[in-house]
Amino acid sequence: MILFLFFSISFSQLIIPTIEIADGVNMPLVGLGSWLYDSDTAYASTLSALKLGYTHFDTAYDYRSEDGVANSIGIGKALEEMKEKRPRDSYFITTKIEGGLNFTRTVAEHMENLKDLGLNHVDLLLTHFPCTMEATPVCSKACRQDQWRALETLLMQGATRAIGTSHFCKKHMQDILEIATVKPAVNQVEYHVGMGSSGPLADDDKDWMQSQGIHFQGFSPLCGPCANGTELITGKMVTDIGKKYNKTGAQVSLRWQVQQNIPVIPKTSNPSHQLQNAQLFDFELSDDDMETLTMARSPAAAGGGGTGPSGDCQFD
Ligand SMILES: NC(=O)c1ccc[n+]([C@@H]2O[C@H](COP(=O)([O-])OP(=O)(O)OC[C@H]3O[C@@H](n4cnc5c(N)ncnc54)[C@H](OP(=O)(O)O)[C@@H]3O)[C@@H](O)[C@H]2O)c1
Ligand SMILES: *[C@@H]1O[C@H](CO)[C@@H](O)[C@H](O)[C@H]1NC(C)=O
Ligand SMILES: *[C@@H]1O[C@H](CO)[C@@H](O)[C@H](O)[C@H]1NC(C)=O
Ligand SMILES: *[C@@H]1O[C@H](CO)[C@@H](O)[C@H](O)[C@H]1NC(C)=O
Repeated sequence: MILFLFFSISFSQLIIPTIEIADGVNMPLVGLGSWLYDSDTAYASTLSALKLGYTHFDTAYDYRSEDGVANSIGIGKALEEMKEKRPRDSYFITTKIEGGLNFTRTVAEHMENLKDLGLNHVDLLLTHFPCTMEATPVCSKACRQDQWRALETLLMQGATRAIGTSHFCKKHMQDILEIATVKPAVNQVEYHVGMGSSGPLADDDKDWMQSQGIHFQGFSPLCGPCANGTELITGKMVTDIGKKYNKTGAQVSLRWQVQQNIPVIPKTSNPSHQLQNAQLFDFELSDDDMETLTMARSPAAAGGGGTGPSGDCQFD
């Protein structure tokens, strides 16, 4: 018994708090991103994160290499390899299906997600976008509603434990709420220091979503694809704040979100960065530092690194 305890503690050095996003479904506040990784990089980064004790992974049908191979295949391979030490109920996995698909295609695409991951269910399934994901997106309320019905069906069938949206603003969400028998558990949108909590670029209606009981999740928390790619990692503001707590700039940027109970999914394949990004729960930013970070208006970029707003409300 003592030996067993010692082993499990030394194997997983991380304790990552969770929030309940649906009945009995607990999402860890820190996960690992995988956007733009090919399946080899996704495999290596997932394997290293699992060994460190990561409990949350984010992927999507759309995360593919140029030759069309889903990065979920690499993630699935790492999960399979670690399944003795990291059984299925020890981790949380989010995937997405493309926006704008009809009922049949939505169900079929998620079946491909599961096959690629080698799993019979995920923990959270999101519709990736309020419209189709073509270069010129096509949007319609009817399509959003049809797709939501498909997500509810997948939930009932046990192919996911919770369902939600991504890139939605209030008007998109209202279309869903009109017909939903199960409300979206989560809306995943771009969110990081520099966007404030209700600045002009944050049209994601965060406060309204939260008032509806829809959890807000931030993507690109380090502003990875933004023009100022390292401002939230090595920039002066976050670095100076970090010195007070013996933390890095990246840890300050991430802590600002988790201290608001917003789950983050920073992406890195570097094991020491992975460890750093999960060590956010042994310090607390002061009210003044939280305020400084909330007031920051740089990097002023949103919408997947473009200049658009975070809720993508410009799309009908
Ligand atoms: N729903 C959506 O449409 C959507 C859109 C965008 C993103 N996402 C999700 O959100 C995840 C994260 O967003 P993102 O990939 O755009 O970028 P991000 O996590 O904001 O930033 C990633 C960049 O930060 C660097 N980094 C991470 N931790 C670091 C550390 N501790 N120290 C120094 N550098 C560090 C990484 O480089 P190194 O590898 O060198 O560490 C990488 O270049 C995605 O991977 C994806 O899963 C979802
Ligand atoms: C659903 O979409 C697919 C792919 O776009 C299409 O082939 C199929 O005919 C559509 N099904 C229905 C019932 O509209
Ligand atoms: C500062 O943080 C580093 C990295 O986590 C750690 O090794 C070091 O012991 C810390 N220093 C103090 C004074 O806490
Ligand atoms: C990039 O960072 C600099 C220095 O913090 C800032 O003045 C500038 O506005 C930023 N650019 C963008 C696009 O956010």
